Amino acid sequence: MCGIVAYIGKNKALPILLDGLKRLEYRGYDSAGIAVLNSGVHSIKSVGKIKALEEKLDSKKFSGKIGIAHTRWATHGEPTEINAHPHSGDQGKFWVVHNGIIENYRTLKDKLIQKGHNFKSQTDTEVIAHLLEDFYKDNITDALISTLKLLKGTYGLAVICKDEPDKLLVARNGSPLVIGVGQDETIIASDVSALIRHTRQVIYLDDGEIAEIDQNNFRIINIQEKEIKKTVEEIEWSLEQAEKSGYPHFMLKEINEQPESIINSIRGRTIIKDGKVKLGGLETIMNITRFIEKISIVACGTAKHAGMVGQLMLEEYANLETSVEFASEFRYRKPIIDQKTAVIAVSQSGETADTLAAMREAKTKGALTLGIVNAVGSTIARETDAGVYNHIGPEIAVASTKAFTSQVAILALFTVLFGRQRQMSMVMGRRILGELNALPDKIKFVVKQNNKIKKIAKKYYKSNNILYMGRKYNYPTAIEGALKLKELSYIHAEGLPSGEMKHGSIAMIDKDFPSVFIAPEDSVYEKNLSNIEEIKARSGPVIAVTTEGNKELKKLVDEIFYIPKTLEMLTPILATIPLQLFAYHMALLNNKDVDKPRNLAKSVTVE
Ligand code: G6P
Repeated sequence: MCGIVAYIGKNKALPILLDGLKRLEYRGYDSAGIAVLNSGVHSIKSVGKIKALEEKLDSKKFSGKIGIAHTRWATHGEPTEINAHPHSGDQGKFWVVHNGIIENYRTLKDKLIQKGHNFKSQTDTEVIAHLLEDFYKDNITDALISTLKLLKGTYGLAVICKDEPDKLLVARNGSPLVIGVGQDETIIASDVSALIRHTRQVIYLDDGEIAEIDQNNFRIINIQEKEIKKTVEEIEWSLEQAEKSGYPHFMLKEINEQPESIINSIRGRTIIKDGKVKLGGLETIMNITRFIEKISIVACGTAKHAGMVGQLMLEEYANLETSVEFASEFRYRKPIIDQKTAVIAVSQSGETADTLAAMREAKTKGALTLGIVNAVGSTIARETDAGVYNHIGPEIAVASTKAFTSQVAILALFTVLFGRQRQMSMVMGRRILGELNALPDKIKFVVKQNNKIKKIAKKYYKSNNILYMGRKYNYPTAIEGALKLKELSYIHAEGLPSGEMKHGSIAMIDKDFPSVFIAPEDSVYEKNLSNIEEIKARSGPVIAVTTEGNKELKKLVDEIFYIPKTLEMLTPILATIPLQLFAYHMALLNNKDVDKPRNLAKSVTVE
């Protein structure tokens, strides 16, 4: 996904911009570019990795102390050098980097062409540079305000101007920007990881805000030029947290972090002796949640799968009618929600465009909006009525792992919280919280068996297709396992409720079509067992995940993986981990880039 870094200050801009771009690489991108101001603007772009850009540039030319940089993930126009940012107008006066989508760019472009402007790229962004030139008289801020008034869509953007070489302007509408405030320098980025090495003091820009920055000062205004007071916040994440800690890949590091990340997600939030939950972020709305009659969970990708586990928990233990929806579908339907509905947006990044839009839609309908978000200060975190942070540190690998297990753990906390406000007994509350607190040790037991999973992967990595099946709480686990395999190894996989396979998919089964069954000893174990028998009767190889001590399945299936016993509703947390490891090894054996799979982005900030 696109990333922005911009700098103005006492130091040379180039090394800071390049370092920032490298820190943003994990978000996924296809091309990159930089523009630095020193007696004119010097710009360079390239397709592919930042390294390619670095190799191309002559650092002597780029010696200025103000500049903008960008990693692009193509939306309008192919990933080419011409389409890479920064973009400029005909006169090369303004240079712009932009995240988001300008929806009315075609109309604006046609008008500009009629006025004599010549466009070089196929991007929506280029219209911004031309509009700036068109409006410019002698003040960059005035030109930007006039431009922004014409734009429809989303943007996070940074602008420099040849005629005002000591000013940097940034603006936000729907695409995140953070201002890092240093000593005689300011670094702006779309993501804190790009500026954390330089400063921990940040200001999160909100929608509709513009920042006008020079070497020592900045001013934040809105589109009506009214000055806005903002507070400087301190970032807690350390740089080490964002590094690999000796693991070959971020993904493996993050899988192994799960015992700790679960502890961090539930720490201080469970009062086991009372069977109660204390969530600071929800305290102000506890009187409202008492009267909630319905819950709707909105999310995308892996977060949606966590939401599906949440739905089952909330219905079974909190007796609350719950639906879970793809955020991208929710906003285009006519969901029936009102003041008695709580809409929970689940999002690791807190910036996923579809989830954000669904949450905003729910807000306009009067629903109570809650967030389960990892990125502190992200848009969803700030715009929901109340919420809970995951506290798992940055998740760098594109494929989500520790965020999923943490999201399920927090949904279990929500279940106890809402359940205890309703009919859940203290005994049941205690039981769930006791089991939640026992999970970190059980996860340690699972991750220790990495080599066992690797051996299984070595037998199956040449498969073209794999079916993942489970029932009830582990149907979401099955689709999450299938998603992990698809995104990492590009092997086709499908997740199904075990009972559905006989309605079609079983036709594909033969000796070369393996199935993964998530079949712990729970209320649907016997049912899963029958489905496994049906696959075996058609010579299909079966890999099963089941509860420690189970001997019955061992005789039936080809490979078996054991997870410790826990409460049925929490089994997805344990059962997903071997599937994460399986996908990781399958991808490595197929020589795939596990941390940055092709075509994917960590945070999808466009629709
Ligand atoms: C992208 C990522 C997924 C993630 C999804 C939702 O597609 O590749 O791993 O699950 O976005 O992201 P969020 O930040 O909202 O949890």
